[in-house]
Amino acid sequence: MATTVNAEALNESPLPEAVAKESKQSVDPYNVSGEVGEDGVVKAIDYSKLVDEFGTKKIEPALLERFERLTGQKPHRFLRRGIVFSHRDLDLILDRYERGQPFFLYTGRGPSSDSVHVGHTVPFEFTKWLQEALDCPLIIMLTDDEKYLFSDKRTVEEVQGYCSANAKDIIAIGFDPAKTFIFSDFEFMGGAFYRNVVRLSKHITLNQSRAIFGFNDSTSIGKIHFGSIQGATSFASSFPHIFGTDETKTSLIPALIPCAIDQDPYFRMTRDVAARIHYAKPSLIHSKFLDALQGPGTKMANTLQSASIDESAIFMKDTPNQIKNKINKYAFSGGKATVEEHREKGGDTSVDVSFLYLRFFLEDDEELEKIRVAYESGELLTGDLKAICIKELQTYVKVFQERRAKVDDEIVHQFMDRRPLKWAGNPRAPIV
Ligand code: TRP
Repeated sequence: MATTVNAEALNESPLPEAVAKESKQSVDPYNVSGEVGEDGVVKAIDYSKLVDEFGTKKIEPALLERFERLTGQKPHRFLRRGIVFSHRDLDLILDRYERGQPFFLYTGRGPSSDSVHVGHTVPFEFTKWLQEALDCPLIIMLTDDEKYLFSDKRTVEEVQGYCSANAKDIIAIGFDPAKTFIFSDFEFMGGAFYRNVVRLSKHITLNQSRAIFGFNDSTSIGKIHFGSIQGATSFASSFPHIFGTDETKTSLIPALIPCAIDQDPYFRMTRDVAARIHYAKPSLIHSKFLDALQGPGTKMANTLQSASIDESAIFMKDTPNQIKNKINKYAFSGGKATVEEHREKGGDTSVDVSFLYLRFFLEDDEELEKIRVAYESGELLTGDLKAICIKELQTYVKVFQERRAKVDDEIVHQFMDRRPLKWAGNPRAPIV
């Protein structure tokens, strides 16, 4: 199986070191692949290793208990199951929440095509939950510029065209229009935002960007510069229509950024510069990837340039039948070769894609645990497990499609309009 699973990575010519390290695990915004074992098989991503290498912190039970104590919300299933597993300075955001001080949520999406798959919905589902639990403003960035810069094929018009469809998909997750601002880089660039882009870019050297992103001498300067755009959205002062025009105050309002762990390099860089220019450092909360149907160690292909796109993922546009066929045909199974052997030895839930998907999408902890025990003991066969997974995903996608059908252009404009937002913050915080 191929090790490269993000088709966009193919556009970047490999570095000499990248070739030498080919079999190692590699996770950055442009490439996600597990280590290749001696047998040539891709292993699952080792997330503990990423926590060490990136210098982030694991989300410990004590932090979740504090979150629950402060917000009164039971942790989201992604938190309970270690799918959202790592953070940077989440405790500082909770301190601010406790004191009733402002902060905001920031997340984003690169509009690389007009269809999203179930994996794309993971950080957005989680962000929606955070927005409700913390009652704070949310800014969603659509990086149309990034998807143009990092592709050899897409035109400016094409990526801009995807923005509206992507915004509709994002809105269909269920965000509150009173508290959510969505923008496209091509449209929003300028003014206070551009001032922050330039402040950031001034403090990033070519050497640093090579070290952080693996860029080389053939990398276009557009790609090299892009990090300062994704980074500048972490600063509240980029959004005077939401936070006001007094930069001495707004530059001190931090972002909490829910994202998949591959986006961390952008924000490591941003945090470094923020400290030097006396801006609030963004905090982060990281999620794992939803594996492709083909199994652990893979991130789903997300562009139409990838030949295997349709076979690797469940799309939010898929019909119930397509979902059923894809799971039955492609979902990697941790079951044994024969029914007899399976009954005797049981299945392996750590590699079984149907089970992995249930961990992401089945809400009920007890039911999930029952399924795990039954599959591992051999009582539940692969076919049965697949049937449960199919049903769960069909429901998830159907509910989404019903909400998506109600999002029209007018609603998109509402979310993308530059306007003040309204939020309450922590109702129990002391008034300061
Ligand atoms: N670069 C991301 C992508 O390709 C989009 C993005 C921009 C993002 N800002 C973000 C994702 C903040 C998470 C958090 O999809």
